[in-house]
Amino acid sequence: MNLLRFSSFKKLLTLKFAQSLPVLQQTQIKAYHWQDKTENQKTSDASNKFTELDPEGWNERWKNRNIGFHKDHINVMLEKHVKRLVNKRENIKIFIPLCGKSLDMKWLADQGHTIVGVDCAEVAFKEFFEEHSLEHTVEPVENLSGKVYTSKDKKIMLYCCDFYKFSRDTAGQFNGIWDRGSLVAINRQDRQKYSTLMKSLMAPDCQYLVDTYDYNEELWPDTYDYNEELWPGPPHYVSAEQIQSLYGDTCDIEDVDTVDHMEEKHKKWGLDYINERLHVITLKK
Ligand SMILES: C[S@@+](CC[C@H](N)C(=O)[O-])C[C@H]1O[C@@H](n2cnc3c(N)ncnc32)[C@H](O)[C@@H]1O
Repeated sequence: MNLLRFSSFKKLLTLKFAQSLPVLQQTQIKAYHWQDKTENQKTSDASNKFTELDPEGWNERWKNRNIGFHKDHINVMLEKHVKRLVNKRENIKIFIPLCGKSLDMKWLADQGHTIVGVDCAEVAFKEFFEEHSLEHTVEPVENLSGKVYTSKDKKIMLYCCDFYKFSRDTAGQFNGIWDRGSLVAINRQDRQKYSTLMKSLMAPDCQYLVDTYDYNEELWPDTYDYNEELWPGPPHYVSAEQIQSLYGDTCDIEDVDTVDHMEEKHKKWGLDYINERLHVITLKK
C-alpha cells in the first residue's frame, strides 16, 4: 500500500517535472530513454506506449550488438528450479522459444536433454555453435522459410525462422519448456497468438517454466495514462493475472519464486524495482 502511494507520488512528480521543462529538454529526456533503440523499433499504434519489434528489428539489434538480454551465465531461476523442469525424468525434450544464443541451452544439453530452440537471428546461432566449438550442420527448412542448425550429436536443434511459423508439425511436442526473455519480449498484442502456439507444443507431461518481470506498478498500462518518458519495453511487464488469462483455460499455473532483479541499467530505465518471477505451467489433467 505504501509502495503504491509512493509510486503514485513519484509519477505525479515526474509528470510535473516533465511539464515544467522547455520542449528541447523534454526531447533530450526522451532521447536518453530511447538511446539503445534502433530505427526499426516503434511504439504500438494502439497505445503509442510499447515498443514493437518484428524479426527485422530484432536482427538489427543483433547486428548492432544491442543484446543486453544475453547473459554470460546460466539463468539464476533455471539453476535454482531445474528440478521442476526435469521432474525426475531423463533425457527429455526441451523447447526454448526465442532462444538467442542462451547458455542455458548448452547447460541443459550437457545434462543429457535434447534441446530445440527457435530464433529469427541467424547470427545468434552462428555465434552459439562457434562459442561452444560445436560441430554442426545447417539445412534449409522450406515450409518455415528458414534453416535448422543441428549439432553433430543431434542434441541441439535450432530453427532460424519467424516463431509464428513454427508448429508442432516441425519438431513435435515437448516434455519441458524454458521460456526466458520470450513471453516478455514479444509484442504485447501477440500474446494470445503466442500462448495458443505454446499450449499446442506441450506434451501431456510438459513442465513449462516461464520467467517474467514485474516492475514499477505505475508502468503497468491499466493503472496510468502518462508514460511518454517511461519504460516502453522489452522486456514488457507480464502480470500473474495475464499468465492466468493466457494459459488458465487448459493449464494449471503455480507461482513458484520471485527474486530481486534490479541492476544499474534498470535505474536508468526509470524503474524503482524489478523482480524476476517464475511460474510453472502444466496441462490440466
Ligand atoms: C530478449 S531476447 C531473449 C533471448 C534468449 N531467450 C535469452 O534468454 O538470452 C528475444 C529473442 O527473440 C528473438 N525473436 C523476437 N521475435 C521473434 C520472432 N517473431 N521469431 C523468432 N525470434 C524472435 C530475438 O531475435 C531475440 O534473440
